[in-house]
Amino acid sequence: MKDVCIRAGEFGDLASVLALERATVEAPHWSEAEYAAAIGGSGDYLRRCLFVADVEGALIGFAVGKVAGNSAELESIAVDLQARRGGVGRALCGVVIDWCKRAGAAAVELEVRASSESAIRLYQGLGFVPVGRRPRYYSGPVDDSVLMRLELP
Ligand SMILES: CC(C)(COP(=O)(O)OP(=O)(O)OC[C@H]1O[C@@H](n2cnc3c(N)ncnc32)[C@H](O)[C@@H]1OP(=O)(O)O)[C@@H](O)C(=O)NCCC(=O)NCCS
Repeated sequence: MKDVCIRAGEFGDLASVLALERATVEAPHWSEAEYAAAIGGSGDYLRRCLFVADVEGALIGFAVGKVAGNSAELESIAVDLQARRGGVGRALCGVVIDWCKRAGAAAVELEVRASSESAIRLYQGLGFVPVGRRPRYYSGPVDDSVLMRLELP
């Protein structure tokens, strides 16, 4: 694969982020305004970050994180189908985790569809452990959620 650049998301990325999100059934679906609010990471108590992966200006992935007080969440991640298994998902998670750490979080949590085997393997590889399960938490299609947690050193 050509050189992948992992960087903070900008307003000019919003249309591509939305297009990728809409094409990714497993990802939570947000409005453009919600992604826009994640840019810049402002806010006193609750702050969000948006990181993107691009190859020569073409967006191939994004991830969103949130910190509120000392708790943090990896809220969403998606990598373009054609670019998967190239380490982009791991790299995006890494920058979100670092951002949470710098923002003072003691741990990062997330919630994922129980059927999303690729995502669960990705998270386990980064040290996340399952800490709970919510039956039938998701609709369209119905699925359990798995709660996972990574303690930050
Ligand atoms: C989950 C997702 C982000 C992974 O992105 P990716 O760029 O393909 O992941 P990486 O190449 O960095 O893979 C890292 C590790 O994750 C695991 N993994 C990723 N895809 C996998 C798959 N299809 N099957 C098994 N393990 C997989 C592997 O352990 C992999 O390490 P390895 O390649 O050294 O074996 C991507 O599959 C995706 O966008 N899925 C749809 C959206 C989604 O499920 N998001 C999570 C809920 S918000």
